Amino acid sequence: MTIRSYRNISPTFDNSVYIDDSAVLVGDIELGEQSSIWPLVAGRGDVNVIRIGRRTNVQDGSVLHVTRKSRQNPTGFPLIIGDDVTVGHKCMLHGCELGNRILVGMGAIIMDGAVVQDDVFIGAGSLVAPNKILESGFLYVGNPALKKRRLKDSEMAFLKQSAVNYVELSREYLEQ
Ligand SMILES: CC(C)(COP(=O)(O)OP(=O)(O)OC[C@H]1O[C@@H](n2cnc3c(N)ncnc32)[C@H](O)[C@@H]1OP(=O)(O)O)[C@@H](O)C(=O)NCCC(=O)NCCS
Repeated sequence: MTIRSYRNISPTFDNSVYIDDSAVLVGDIELGEQSSIWPLVAGRGDVNVIRIGRRTNVQDGSVLHVTRKSRQNPTGFPLIIGDDVTVGHKCMLHGCELGNRILVGMGAIIMDGAVVQDDVFIGAGSLVAPNKILESGFLYVGNPALKKRRLKDSEMAFLKQSAVNYVELSREYLEQ
């Protein structure tokens, strides 16, 4: 079953959200309007919560998880993703916080406590180390991910367009 409860808490979303039949979402996960979850995504909101905003897409094979609360870390690390975010194929998002209009390139890894501000482009295969802050308006690439350059206007526009494209694609999947 795609949508599973953990400790009697199940993922919540309305009927504008597309979730592929092969994805698995467990526990305390909230998804905003018109977001989409593509084949083989695994999201586990068990030891902390996962919150995903509106018009955000999480593409094939990506993994979403969180870190539990502890004495040393009373809030743990939830996973928070904002609006109009594109998470490319096979990304690993763990206990981090993403703002709005971000593109996470294919295969990127973002670790606990990292914060990605609004309007950031993360190159394919990048590794964002724990607790790093990625500054608004920049391209980051590499392992470890480093600030490469300011985003061009066309790239800034693409951040939003990518989200629009995936909203449209997910409408087609919902309607078929
Ligand atoms: C980073 C990216 C945006 C290209 O940026 P760019 O500045 O136009 O880069 P260029 O293609 O001009 O390459 C510049 C240099 O960076 C290198 N480079 C490109 N992408 C890179 C990446 N992801 N990680 C590390 N280095 C990268 C290139 O090899 C090149 O190196 P060189 O100068 O030694 O030849 C692009 O390669 C990328 O990673 N896009 C992500 C796409 C994606 O995953 N989309 C989501 C799926 S739908």
